Amino acid sequence: MPRPHYVAAIDQGTTSSRCIVFDQAGHIISVAQREHRQIFPRPGWVEHDASEIWQAVQGVLAEAVSGAGLADDQIAALGITNQRETTVLWDRQTGVPVCPAIVWQDTRTDPLTRALAEHEGLFREKAGLPLATYFSGPKIRWLLDEHPGLRERAERGEVLFGTMDSWLLWNLTGRHLTDVTNASRTMLMNIHTLAWDDELLAALGVPRAMLPEIRPSAEVYGRTAGGVPVASALGDQQAALFGQTCFDPGETKSTYGSGSFLLMNTGHEPVFSKHGLLTTVGYQIGDGPATYALEGAIAVTGSLVQWLRDNLGLISSAAEIETLARTVDDNGGCYFVPAFSGLFAPHWRSDARGVIAGLTGFVNKGHIARAVLEATAWQTREVVDAMNADSGLDLTTLRADGGMTADNLLMQTLADVLDVPVIRPMVAETTALGAAYAAGLATGYWPDIDGLRANWHKAAEWRPAIDESVREQEYHNWKKAVARTLGWVE
Ligand code: G3P
Repeated sequence: MPRPHYVAAIDQGTTSSRCIVFDQAGHIISVAQREHRQIFPRPGWVEHDASEIWQAVQGVLAEAVSGAGLADDQIAALGITNQRETTVLWDRQTGVPVCPAIVWQDTRTDPLTRALAEHEGLFREKAGLPLATYFSGPKIRWLLDEHPGLRERAERGEVLFGTMDSWLLWNLTGRHLTDVTNASRTMLMNIHTLAWDDELLAALGVPRAMLPEIRPSAEVYGRTAGGVPVASALGDQQAALFGQTCFDPGETKSTYGSGSFLLMNTGHEPVFSKHGLLTTVGYQIGDGPATYALEGAIAVTGSLVQWLRDNLGLISSAAEIETLARTVDDNGGCYFVPAFSGLFAPHWRSDARGVIAGLTGFVNKGHIARAVLEATAWQTREVVDAMNADSGLDLTTLRADGGMTADNLLMQTLADVLDVPVIRPMVAETTALGAAYAAGLATGYWPDIDGLRANWHKAAEWRPAIDESVREQEYHNWKKAVARTLGWVE
């Protein structure tokens, strides 16, 4: 009898790297996970060690495949999905990073982005993005400006740039590539032509010689040392859109990881936001047309729970937040706006910094835990309002996924503040699933996208259960707290 075949996906996230092996029905066969260090050298700076991440990825790949008793030739394809925007520069000869990777949450490029204000319109029109510290382009520019000799080496093509997909593809296949979804987060790719754009490169001062080749999200890029075809690369949020089978215009998902990201499929034409959302590439399968998405990006949600654990020691595991929040009935009048990296969608204010508003002597750690969970829900509400205004459609249900969706109190709070049902699918690991789907499509493991919808099953649903007047009063208070974060950095 022939041995069964599977598809593996590497999910290289902000706080950890995972490898998940799926079968043809989209069921999880094995999982391995390793955390890597979050390096905070100064306030507002966040770095990763790309070599440590590559080690972790090799480790989880081996653990999820051979560690689970599978042979390499049982893996029909390997997909990659990754934290986006995080910027790695490495030496073409040695393959060694030339500096720490600058993480998407890092705000060191704030003065630089302000100095680029004259190009704001250009970035919006051509890249579909607001001018913000979030994206890779300003991070590359900062590194080239700060490290003596680096610009000259980059111009000669001796130093290469890549987001995490590129870094992993380079290490796995020896090729310097990226995919359209990741390239759409750099501020360097023209969102219409899907090619690096000279005007954008000139505005940011980034040499073309250091950039990877832009490829579709699903095709065979090369093979691992063990002979497995590496056949997809997608930014993690785009992969989750794909894993949730949001293949038709209007279909929307929201993923709850270290940050939270709500994406709506907008079809084959880019749609530009008037309400603070991003225009991004959703996916491109082989030579097919690109599918675009509108995105509401929230920088800090799950990472606020980690902060409560690691920086304040209020909980000893992330899962404990729910238990602590359930020790009280409400937020006790306090609101926590975690503007640690400024505010992303829909505000785009890099001058904002976090606040806990409404403190009185009555507030205890249970109330703070509640305010932490509610912060995720209210930030989602702001993004849903923007999405509704941009699309002219009202969101009718929220398909939620990601690690934080294990928190039932958060799921109920989301339904309450959004006033729509919130649905969690059977496989909440939709990010890895999306990368697996794309890799499996590229290699014929799955014949077409239509068959994938049959793999999507609802696991649980939460319905709104608070009064309209309470919801609107709480939203009003949240907005007052948000206003207090603005203008902190002068
Ligand atoms: O844009 C940043 C995003 O890709 C990070 O996702 O899940 O690692 O927080 P996550």
